[in-house]
Amino acid sequence: MIRTLNRTATLSGSVQLPGDKSISHRYAMLAAIAEGTSAIRHFAASRDCHSTLDCLQALGVEVHESGETVTICGRGLRGLRAPGQILDAGNSGTTIRLLSGILAGHPFESTITGDASLSSRPMGRVMRPLRLMGAAVESRERDLPPLRIRGGSLKGIRYSLPVASAQVKSCVLLAGLYGKGPTAVEETIPTRDHTEIALREFGGTVRQAGNWIEVDPEPALRARQLTVPGDLSGAAFFLVAAALVPGSDLTLPGAGLNARRRELLAYLERAGVDVAVENETCLAGEPRGDLRVRFNPELFDRPLPPIRGAEAASLIDEIPVLAVLGSRAAGGVEISDAHELRVKESDRIAAIAANLRSMGADVTEKPDGLVIRGGRPLSGTDIVTLGDHRIAMAFAVAALAAEGETRIHEAECADVSFPGFWDALNAIRTK
Ligand code: S3P
Repeated sequence: MIRTLNRTATLSGSVQLPGDKSISHRYAMLAAIAEGTSAIRHFAASRDCHSTLDCLQALGVEVHESGETVTICGRGLRGLRAPGQILDAGNSGTTIRLLSGILAGHPFESTITGDASLSSRPMGRVMRPLRLMGAAVESRERDLPPLRIRGGSLKGIRYSLPVASAQVKSCVLLAGLYGKGPTAVEETIPTRDHTEIALREFGGTVRQAGNWIEVDPEPALRARQLTVPGDLSGAAFFLVAAALVPGSDLTLPGAGLNARRRELLAYLERAGVDVAVENETCLAGEPRGDLRVRFNPELFDRPLPPIRGAEAASLIDEIPVLAVLGSRAAGGVEISDAHELRVKESDRIAAIAANLRSMGADVTEKPDGLVIRGGRPLSGTDIVTLGDHRIAMAFAVAALAAEGETRIHEAECADVSFPGFWDALNAIRTK
């Protein structure tokens, strides 16, 4: 489906955020291996999180959905059943990588695969630690999915992450629930800690000492009633849209404000975006609050702060839309240390560069990032999204500030993380 967008005079109103994708995956998986029935409110309606629910059902877990609440009947730590079919993680890296950790703890053989995009993403990063723990894991050539996993008796390991990845960290910690003895993971660059927080909520033991995170095996996980906060990475598109479109004033109630994710807000503030947090609370270890963002013309007089080092890891999902923001700031933006963007749902460095250039921006691709020289006007064009949800939504935001018509191809891919994105965007635009 192609969505056609034009420059917008201003943006105003309120945006209902979908449930956080990362947290929804974790709550669903932990509920499935807990004892008792969990209710998860404001569960992400995203296609990715439904891939997780589908896989859990194929593993014998009873799942009921009613509106935005998902009820999951836990089968206990070792209660998953051998699937009668190949597990389909769809487009979701979090599903295949985290679930692999849980499957490695079960003594049956399972195969997990995904769509064309997921089937080209690296899985060696989870295969290596799972093999060290004693699981048999095989893949297609070059460590690509499908993964065939036969688990069972695992041993605890101490593992230094070779790549800054919350998915790999989470995979090892989840497998560690099935180890003989504790399992510890070292991360030198901090990544989102939703697994650690959720594990504690479900009754697991997680210790943090310096860069090391350690879990105890055989936890008695208990069912919980939980409410997922709004997705801050989804909010990012609207925060940047309001920063780009003159006169804008938006509120985004109930956004997740986890310390490892709200780096985005700190970055936007440093960039000069007028964003305020109101009514902050914390439920089940996950802070949340209402966001208000207003257009600030001063933003365009200066370069955006460079994105590099640990900040590149914290902002990894937001870089596509921050690159769009950078293309409009007078001094542009330089993004480094973001090699991981090359192995996301698409090669996002190449996709950002190609689409920004076709809108008229001056962009140089680097192996690990981009140099965007800002200040040039953007013009409408055809956006090649490669079916990547964050590329589609980032360039929808660019379209609001571009001259002429922009056509976003394969626009339905926004459903992967933000169902209702196009309606939400339409509702806040002055026509
Ligand atoms: C996620 C971690 C990140 C992120 C992805 C979701 C998670 O991936 O890009 O959208 O839920 O753990 P990596 O861990 O591979 O960096």
